[in-house]
Amino acid sequence: MTKTALVCGAGGFIGGHLVKRLKREGFWVRGVDLKFPPFAETEADDFAVGDLRDQYFCRQITDRRFDEVYQLAADMGGAGYIFTGEHDADVMHNSATINLNMLDACQKRNVRGMFYSSSACMYPEHNQMDPNNPNCAEDSAYPANPDSEYGWEKLFSERLYLAYNRNHSMRNRVARYHNIFGPEGTWDGGKEKAPAAVCRKVAQATSGGDIEIWGDGTQTRSFLYIEECLEGTIRLTRSDFEGPVNVGSEEMVTINQLVDIVADIAGKRLHKNHIPGPLGVRGRNSDNRLIGQKLGWKPSATLRSGLEKTYEWIERQVHRNTKKAAA
Ligand code: NAD
Ligand code: GDD
Repeated sequence: MTKTALVCGAGGFIGGHLVKRLKREGFWVRGVDLKFPPFAETEADDFAVGDLRDQYFCRQITDRRFDEVYQLAADMGGAGYIFTGEHDADVMHNSATINLNMLDACQKRNVRGMFYSSSACMYPEHNQMDPNNPNCAEDSAYPANPDSEYGWEKLFSERLYLAYNRNHSMRNRVARYHNIFGPEGTWDGGKEKAPAAVCRKVAQATSGGDIEIWGDGTQTRSFLYIEECLEGTIRLTRSDFEGPVNVGSEEMVTINQLVDIVADIAGKRLHKNHIPGPLGVRGRNSDNRLIGQKLGWKPSATLRSGLEKTYEWIERQVHRNTKKAAA
């Protein structure tokens, strides 16, 4: 029998890529989102445009048997969106409502289990003050102290999915994604994350010119390429381990180093102009001991290899927009 999957958030970056991956595996896929994917036609067999904050819509889209359900829909963005404080109420209300509705609908339709994408933003701020030595081991989550409301909602929802496992015998799986990047991700407009923002700024700059970077550039992060994110997601979903588990890279870099790699890929010499901006934690890195132990797999691709593909795609978007504006 053909396997079936439901992908919530299929009009977004990770959901759009996940649909393609599941289609390659031979699944019948239903995608759901407020919008169609903006950069490429969806490959889903069926795509429902609608609002997952509406519980009746959630019941409608779960009206058939699904072997796998991925819940990726959320109100989210990079530092420029989640750390300004301007969207806190929306982020918490929208994402929590989606998770409450989808869990209720799936449990009532006897869905066996769901995959849920939590975030490294749920880790306590006090363990991420030292840029050279952040602690993001899974068991460091409590006492909880995320630095954003986005992180608090993720923590609440993680607990919700695991409560349904205990009280309703579901097989939900929870991953904590660490800054995922790649082609077809948001690259402008305010929700973009550092890898896409830096690729865009480098593509727009002329060699010898300036590039604006928020903060002093010594804050650290690790970034995971989309293909490895999907591999971890699918392996976790099909495993006996419920998580929560980090899905991220352990190749930690400063934001200055991120800029240097992208500038090198572009073949440009650039001067970094450090300006005030939303910063988030001082340091963050994935800790991949648990995923290695439980899934016998962990990400291994280099940051540079992912940035080469991402830069090429973003450079094309920048040139296309410049041509359009000039026409
Ligand atoms: P994205 O913003 O590209 O995709 C999320 C999608 O959810 C969007 O297409 C949006 O339209 C949809 N959505 C939002 N509200 C909705 C609603 N009410 N009804 C229906 N659809 C709705 O984000 P992404 O990068 O693809 O992230 C996917 C998931 O992974 C999110 O839950 C996010 O919080 C989580 N995550 C992502 C990262 C990352 O670096 N990309 C890191 C940690 C966690
Ligand atoms: N977005 C962005 N744009 N960030 C910049 C820029 C810029 O032009 N210049 C410097 N930065 C710095 C930010 O100030 C921050 O310190 C760092 O780069 C990383 O920013 P983001 O990539 O935007 O976000 P984040 O790593 O703090 O959080 C992201 O990752 C989480 C998971 O690890 C967010 O996307 C969260 O939504 C996600 O859950």
